[in-house]
Amino acid sequence: MEEARAYEELRVGFTAAVSHELRTPLARLLVLLESASLPDVDSEAMLAKARDQVEEMRELVDDVLFLSELESGREVVALGSTRALPVLEEVRDRLADSAERADLAIRVEADESVELPVRRRMLQIVAENLAENSIRYAGAGSTLTLSARPGVLEASDDGRGVDDVDLARLFERFYRSDRARASRGTGLGLAIVKHVVTAAGGEVEATGGAGQGLTIRCSFFTSAPS
Ligand SMILES: Nc1ncnc2c1ncn2[C@@H]1O[C@H](COP(=O)(O)OP(=O)(O)OP(=O)(O)O)[C@@H](O)[C@H]1O
Ligand SMILES: [Mg+2]
Repeated sequence: MEEARAYEELRVGFTAAVSHELRTPLARLLVLLESASLPDVDSEAMLAKARDQVEEMRELVDDVLFLSELESGREVVALGSTRALPVLEEVRDRLADSAERADLAIRVEADESVELPVRRRMLQIVAENLAENSIRYAGAGSTLTLSARPGVLEASDDGRGVDDVDLARLFERFYRSDRARASRGTGLGLAIVKHVVTAAGGEVEATGGAGQGLTIRCSFFTSAPS
């Protein structure tokens, strides 16, 4: 009973949060479309902005769907085991352009032989979310180190970090620090990371502090199925 009620609260809260997150881009979209037909406006520019809003909503919907697939167990996380180094290098290379624009250096550290007990796609999703966060929030001149050792994946940057109060809440859905609110993002990335890692029998931990960078450590306790 107790559990059912708690689950129901969670579900209702989630629906409310998704709706809330969709409202802002929807409202912006409406204004943009209405103004696009006014005389003397750059309607091309308006439409480009409208497209950005649609893109933002699509990203949100994709994240929500992915999270619900994870939760329902339809999306398999833990089957198999993946060599970490090539995945981390791929993520670094794929994000090289946006990292350069943000003036963030990405280093990869892992022995050739290190494997982690998750499917390749899942490892990619985790590493990509963590790297995208450093690109977005660490600040110019920072360095991100993506590293893997047996049973552990870590993303550690020396950037702006977050306050202690935020540290405890980063993995909650839709949670964003006040500083991040001005930027694009929905606060689902780290919730997805946590879900993937716990589904694989591991746990996540955030350490750091304001001005001291942020480290996200994913520890896997299960041995990789052979
Ligand atoms: N490397 C980092 N440095 C500083 N703050 C960070 C870092 N990574 C995450 N954060 C903070 O944690 C919050 C939650 O991150 P999360 O990835 O869950 O959501 P998001 O990046 O805001 O949106 P999304 O990932 O869904 O696009 C961010 O909004 C930001 O405030
Ligand atoms: Mg993110």
